[in-house]
Amino acid sequence: MENDVDEVLITDDRIREKTAELGRKLTEDYRGKNPLLICVLKGGLMFLADLMREIQIPVEIDFMAVSSYGDATESSGVVRILMDLDRNIRGRHILIVEDIIDTGRTLTYIMENLHTRGPASVKVCTLLNKPARRILDIPIDYVGFEIPDRFVIGYGLDYREIYRNLPFVGVLRPELYSRE
Ligand code: PRP
Repeated sequence: MENDVDEVLITDDRIREKTAELGRKLTEDYRGKNPLLICVLKGGLMFLADLMREIQIPVEIDFMAVSSYGDATESSGVVRILMDLDRNIRGRHILIVEDIIDTGRTLTYIMENLHTRGPASVKVCTLLNKPARRILDIPIDYVGFEIPDRFVIGYGLDYREIYRNLPFVGVLRPELYSRE
C-alpha cells in the first residue's frame, strides 16, 4: 500500500501537533456550550477520533453519511443523505468535522440541510482544505492544512475505498488513477 504513495504530504507527527492545536482552540471557543461534533463519514472518522481526544470540555458526537454522485475522483454536486443524525439538533452548537473540503459542494449541502433544523450555530473544522478546487465558496472556521491540488489519500481519505488506514496524508501515484 505504501508503495502506491508518490510523496508523504503531511506526516503523522504534523497531524498530531495540528490536531492538538485545534483541540486547544476548540476547548476555549466552545467552553460552556456542550457542542455536538458531527462527523461526515467515512473520511472524517480518523480526524474526529483524534480531535475529540484533544478537546478538554464535554462534547457529544453524531454521524452523517452522504454520497455525492460522480466518478471516483470528482463529485458531481448532487448530494444524497445515506445516513442521518440520531439526534435533534435544535438549539445546539454544531461543529461539522470533515477530512477535506474540495469543491465545497458536500459541505454546502450539509450546512444548508442542518440550518433548516434550527441549531444555535453551525461551524466547520476540516483537516485539509484544497482552495484551488473550490466551486462553492463557503466559510471554514477551523482548518488544519491548506493543500495543493493533488490527489491525496490516507488518514481517512480513500481512493476506491482503499488507503484510509494510512497514518499520514500522502499523494497517490498518478499512474494509479490516470488510466481511468
Ligand atoms: C469527501 C470528503 C468530503 C467531500 C469533499 O468525501 O470527505 O465529504 O469528499 O468534497 P467536495 O468539497 O468536492 O464536496 P467522499 O464523497 O469522497 O466520501 P468518503 O468520505 O466516504 O470518502
